[in-house]
Amino acid sequence: MQKNNAALKPIGGYLELELPTGNEYYPNLIQLNTGRNALEYILKQKRYSKIYIPYFTCDALLEPIKKLEIKHQFYSIDEKFDPIINFEIEQYAGFLYTNYFGIKQEKVIELSNQIKNLIIDNSQAFFSEPLPGVDTFYSCRKFFGVSDGAYLQIKKKLPKKLPVDISVNRFSHLIKSIEFGVEGGYQDYQTNNKDLENNEIRSMSKLTQRILSSINYDECAGKRERNFNFLHKHLAEFNLLKFNVPKNCAPMVYPFLSNDSHLKVHLIQKKIFVATYWPNVFKWTKKGMYENYLARCLVPFPIDQRYSLQDMFHMLNILRHFV
Ligand SMILES: Cc1ncc(COP(=O)(O)O)c(C=O)c1O
Repeated sequence: MQKNNAALKPIGGYLELELPTGNEYYPNLIQLNTGRNALEYILKQKRYSKIYIPYFTCDALLEPIKKLEIKHQFYSIDEKFDPIINFEIEQYAGFLYTNYFGIKQEKVIELSNQIKNLIIDNSQAFFSEPLPGVDTFYSCRKFFGVSDGAYLQIKKKLPKKLPVDISVNRFSHLIKSIEFGVEGGYQDYQTNNKDLENNEIRSMSKLTQRILSSINYDECAGKRERNFNFLHKHLAEFNLLKFNVPKNCAPMVYPFLSNDSHLKVHLIQKKIFVATYWPNVFKWTKKGMYENYLARCLVPFPIDQRYSLQDMFHMLNILRHFV
């Protein structure tokens, strides 16, 4: 008798949450639970004895490094966010570079021709495609309304089938934001972020995967690019960071640097919620270091798909009072 798979599918009952059905942006990459666990995957597969990481990055990256008891060495970046490599890179060491804000793809290409064991952290550069043969990872929650999820490009897969992550218990901030706004969900957001710490490597949860399959990526990328260009047109002359806007890139945020270390607080008081990249940098660096200054004074303006040009204009109007 022919086996009928349809017979296994329940029919009826209550109606489920409806999301548009589409495709993930990176259907061919390995789907994992978090960016930090993607780094753990790379470190396990490549068996590096040491890793170089920038002072200017998130301390979540130290999690797998400490867990696997791998040596790490910090390196500095210059005013263009390029790495300062004034040391010999050891033969069996990995070198991690962050594609800052999603605007450093040209540097990524350059480094890929110079550094053998390059690891690219594209957590801030979701729309920057991975280069062939370069170990590259992405963290989805920096770009979209998901609680977790990561993509990884690496040649050699782990031999074991991974357990599947479950996201439902860290989802509350995303639902609360609909009824109470982002402020109403903020406490949950912090608790749910904590839940991402010290997990084993898992494959991406069904919930996260389902949401990531419902997104109109062209629209998101287009809006990010438009908002970024708009802010740059109006702010480039005041921005102490000097950069050219790369073509076809949809950055995470617009990085604005001034010498005013109170600017972030002023903006937050006006309900423009700008983050600090990254609080741990204050612990890792001394006061005179460039990275310490960046952590204090760099203002990452939101430019994501939620916002119109009118919203960008509103931010500029508020900023005008302070610069
Ligand atoms: C630059 C950067 N890389 C990696 C990570 C880790 O990503 P995840 O939270 O998905 O582990 C973060 C933040 O958490 C980050 O800011």
